[in-house]
Amino acid sequence: MRADSGGTRKPRCFVSWIFRCRAAWSWRLACPSGMVLTRLTAAPERRLARRVCGVVLDHFDAQYSSELGDAWAAVRDVLTSPCCWQYAVLLNRFNYPFNLEEALRLRGYRTVFQGSLPHCPKSMKCYLSATAGRMPSERHQVGNLKKYYLLNAASLLPVLALELRDGEKVLDLCAAPGGKSIALLQCADPGYLHCNEYDHLRLKWLMQTLESFIPQPLVNGIKVSQSDGRDVGDAQPETFDKVLVDAPCSNDRSWLFSPDAQKAACRISQRRSLPVLQRGLLWSAIKALRPGGLLVYSTCTLSRAENQDVINDVLNTHSNVIAVDITEMARTCSQDFSFAPTGQECGLLVIPDKGRAWGPMYVAKLKKSWTA
Ligand SMILES: C[S@@+](CC[C@H](N)C(=O)[O-])C[C@H]1O[C@@H](n2cnc3c(N)ncnc32)[C@H](O)[C@@H]1O
Repeated sequence: MRADSGGTRKPRCFVSWIFRCRAAWSWRLACPSGMVLTRLTAAPERRLARRVCGVVLDHFDAQYSSELGDAWAAVRDVLTSPCCWQYAVLLNRFNYPFNLEEALRLRGYRTVFQGSLPHCPKSMKCYLSATAGRMPSERHQVGNLKKYYLLNAASLLPVLALELRDGEKVLDLCAAPGGKSIALLQCADPGYLHCNEYDHLRLKWLMQTLESFIPQPLVNGIKVSQSDGRDVGDAQPETFDKVLVDAPCSNDRSWLFSPDAQKAACRISQRRSLPVLQRGLLWSAIKALRPGGLLVYSTCTLSRAENQDVINDVLNTHSNVIAVDITEMARTCSQDFSFAPTGQECGLLVIPDKGRAWGPMYVAKLKKSWTA
């Protein structure tokens, strides 16, 4: 099999891989017969210019060495080294790329989650590789569905924790750019999917993602709204079987590489207001959930204030909400993901680790009981 047009040698790191891709102009996947499966454009060169923002790193050092203890040193190494970052490949069941699976296996990728989790639908296929690097992104072309979505594999944990079944009503409260909405639709055929996003530009991005991956008749059945998520609960009380709150958060990876040090420093103080917004979104999500329904809260930050403290606050203020134990999920995924050591807390925190550079991703699962 011909793995790419520039030869079959594996790249030593992401940077050399980019150079090879640029030299070859495109990356070609070939099926065993040699027939070209798809032609993909190389990743943009702006990735080469990434620099760690010192003021953010200092802030993280102070906060996370206290919150994560000894684990922070290894997490820090991965977060500050984009050449170690891994990208998983989520296949699109609506434009199923048969030959791509074989090509991925030949490049050292393997499936994740299948057979390990209590609830992992066969229709959801995700591949990952132990080595760093990423497949090139596919371009959006009107009328052509994309074959795969590149993501941090830990992003699938909140989706899988939701245990979506065919016919259920599901709300994705903070949906843009749409990665988790796409993943939800790989798992099941919901009876009703409502994707909400507050930010106007990101809403456009969300719609483009849906159109890129989901057949038009299905897209037409998805409700997309641009509301403040904190209002959705009052507007649609006790409506949904499942609600995903993938909350706006500090987003540690991208913040660490902020190109503007002044803006990055401003965010340190703005960061303190995020838990208030996150609580507001969670309260609204609980209202929107029907009794007996399940809610998953997730963030991509390591910050305790935006994770565990938010969940504890909700549990302390809502007698009709209980935490669902998902430690089994961590146990069955421990081969592929590293988790922060937790005490009595509910929720899981995926921490980036060498060769398992997934996360940060915090996941907590809640159930709304029948009695108030
Ligand atoms: C972590 S991102 C969501 C990522 C998305 N779930 C995905 O997997 O692609 C959080 C999103 O929440 C949006 N957001 C911020 N404030 C919001 C609010 N008050 N209501 C709803 N969405 C909000 C942000 O614009 C951002 O797009």
